[in-house]
Amino acid sequence: MDKPEQGRSLAVFPGSFDPITNGHLDIVERGLRIFDRVRTAILINPEKKPLFSIDERVRLIQDTYSHEPRVEVDTFSGLLVDYAVKVGATVIIRGIRAISDFEFEFQMTLMNRRLNPSIETVFMMPAESYSYVSSRLVKEIFQLGGRVSDLVPPVVERRLCEVYGTPMPSDQPEDPQGNQ
Ligand code: PNS
Repeated sequence: MDKPEQGRSLAVFPGSFDPITNGHLDIVERGLRIFDRVRTAILINPEKKPLFSIDERVRLIQDTYSHEPRVEVDTFSGLLVDYAVKVGATVIIRGIRAISDFEFEFQMTLMNRRLNPSIETVFMMPAESYSYVSSRLVKEIFQLGGRVSDLVPPVVERRLCEVYGTPMPSDQPEDPQGNQ
């Protein structure tokens, strides 16, 4: 009997990733438990004004996963289902943080299914501690002087500090009163 194919399953995890957060990382790690490879695919969307350029977003994900060859990074434009077919993926992963995410994700999934019934969408729930984390809130909190150390990978925090010209919290002298 033929052995089942090994090391071949590929899932696409699409998004804006502006920037990648620990919530995204949680979903990638869950994806790796099921699929051999997870490819984060950043949408090139000329209509959005991102904080980080496409190249920077690619680099931040590459740096975050420099020791994990099963995580790949790519960009795409056009229809997601067409991109999935092009790279040989049959599964799209999307994270669902709360019921409020569900309606849009449900609509998108059914539309993608209509466009290409051979591509399946898998919803994954992040750990509860990430259920309220979004790229938009991370940027807002950082801009307003809040700490994002527990919300994004260190490379992203460092880049946020560079963009806004603020020192890394770990580089700052400790507050003798222990305030954060
Ligand atoms: O991180 P986001 O912004 O929630 O990701 C949204 C994304 C990139 C998954 C979605 O906008 C997308 O798939 N766009 C590609 C264009 C497309 O296929 N549109 C039809 C979807 S039904």
